[in-house]
Amino acid sequence: GGMAGVGLGAVAAAGSTFALLTDANGNKAGAATNTATLTIPDLLEGTTSDSTTTYTLEAKTGTAEVLSGVTSTTAGYNQSFLGPTMKWTKGNTALLNITNSLGEDTTVHFHGAHVPAKMDGGPQVAFSDGDTWAPTFTVKDDPTTLWYHPHALGTTAKQAVHGLAGMIIVDDADNTTSAALPTTYGTDDIPLIFQCLAVDSAGDIKYDLTGYLSSGLSYPLLVNGTNVDDTTLTFTATKTRTRFRLLNASPSDIITVQRSDGGTMTQIATDQGYLAEAADVTTIRLVAGARAEMVMDMSDDVTLQAVVTTGWVRGGSGTYDFLTVTASGTDTPDDLPSSLRTIDRYDTSDFTARTITLGQSGTKMLINGSAGTSMSSMAMISTTLGSKEIWTITNSTQLEHSFHLHDVPYQLISINGADPTGVELGWYDTYEVVGGGSIKIAMEFTDFSDDTYMYMLHCHLLQHEDEGMMASLMITDS
Ligand code: C2O
Ligand code: CU
Repeated sequence: GGMAGVGLGAVAAAGSTFALLTDANGNKAGAATNTATLTIPDLLEGTTSDSTTTYTLEAKTGTAEVLSGVTSTTAGYNQSFLGPTMKWTKGNTALLNITNSLGEDTTVHFHGAHVPAKMDGGPQVAFSDGDTWAPTFTVKDDPTTLWYHPHALGTTAKQAVHGLAGMIIVDDADNTTSAALPTTYGTDDIPLIFQCLAVDSAGDIKYDLTGYLSSGLSYPLLVNGTNVDDTTLTFTATKTRTRFRLLNASPSDIITVQRSDGGTMTQIATDQGYLAEAADVTTIRLVAGARAEMVMDMSDDVTLQAVVTTGWVRGGSGTYDFLTVTASGTDTPDDLPSSLRTIDRYDTSDFTARTITLGQSGTKMLINGSAGTSMSSMAMISTTLGSKEIWTITNSTQLEHSFHLHDVPYQLISINGADPTGVELGWYDTYEVVGGGSIKIAMEFTDFSDDTYMYMLHCHLLQHEDEGMMASLMITDS
């Protein structure tokens, strides 16, 4: 394809205000009037031989009704919007053949995966329209929910908001960790991909500051690609226990998932897999890029709500009744194990300390004083294989940021000066840093070193990333 680059880049004049169910700030107002069946992204079946599983993806453009009755130019993997869910098995080799039919350069990053830098899909491995990129690696991640999305310099937001995003489920071969947990994709193991977009009346999806500041925008919330502004999705749970994998694929907004009846959900995982113990929670807050998993044992129907709060320049917040789950299971599930796995908390007393400052200068976003809008202007963090580090991430701006580190998971050591508790004791790769706030995180650089390629660390508010809040991480074998 060739026209797509043009389509994705086009900036149309802002149209008149959308009245529908949003107020002047684009906030949701009033209850949903329609229902529609929850769309489950296809499962991408790879072909496995000799414990290598091969997956085929094509990044391409298409069209979709992001706003009802209006056709938007979109993009997706193997389809016109979003992409199929990949299932990876720990210990197997994954081989991906990814063809770029977007009409412009792209990369495919495996967000949260522990893979060699050359396979990580960062900005240095961009590939051109018409080319196929074929990364291959051993899956080393513990069972978890990851995702894939573009990561080329300066175009991540544009390509992601047009629809290039998909989920990755990692499981282990014998499923031992998951014995009491649902694993039948689409039946009792359900992906929920959230995207808050900014769209003008002509259907053009906005991605940069200029676009976001145009007038008359609508701010639809999409769940698995369906606009839930005036629609409540429905799903019939045929098993008593259903597992939901939540992914906030929004460019900037924060999504908080809760039950409309105020009841509890049992959170079992954070970004990087199982918690040590399942936790009953009433809300699950996901910054841009973050994931979580929860299960509900249902005897009655449950409506889930998404509360959207602004991460950037959006005009406010809204609460959406996005999904009604109809309870129809008659089975009695096994008790959840009291321990999901062991998480050894780091003793950071002998860890190497480092400071990362998130800053801003005009419209440029900075890490340690540098705007990472090119590989040469980016701050570089250099470390050695085996290094154990504690980083203080200080937010010197008044904006919200979402701190994402490639390659290895991290533990939260402190959050705005407070000790982590509950689900904060899990493993993360993407975490909130509030305006003026700070977090301390600890990690260990294991397995991979490469003196040519590098990993990234950045804000996952995608416009901030594109405006320079990104640094590189070079790991060498000392
Ligand atoms: Cu989800 Cu470096 O990105
Ligand atoms: Cu940011």
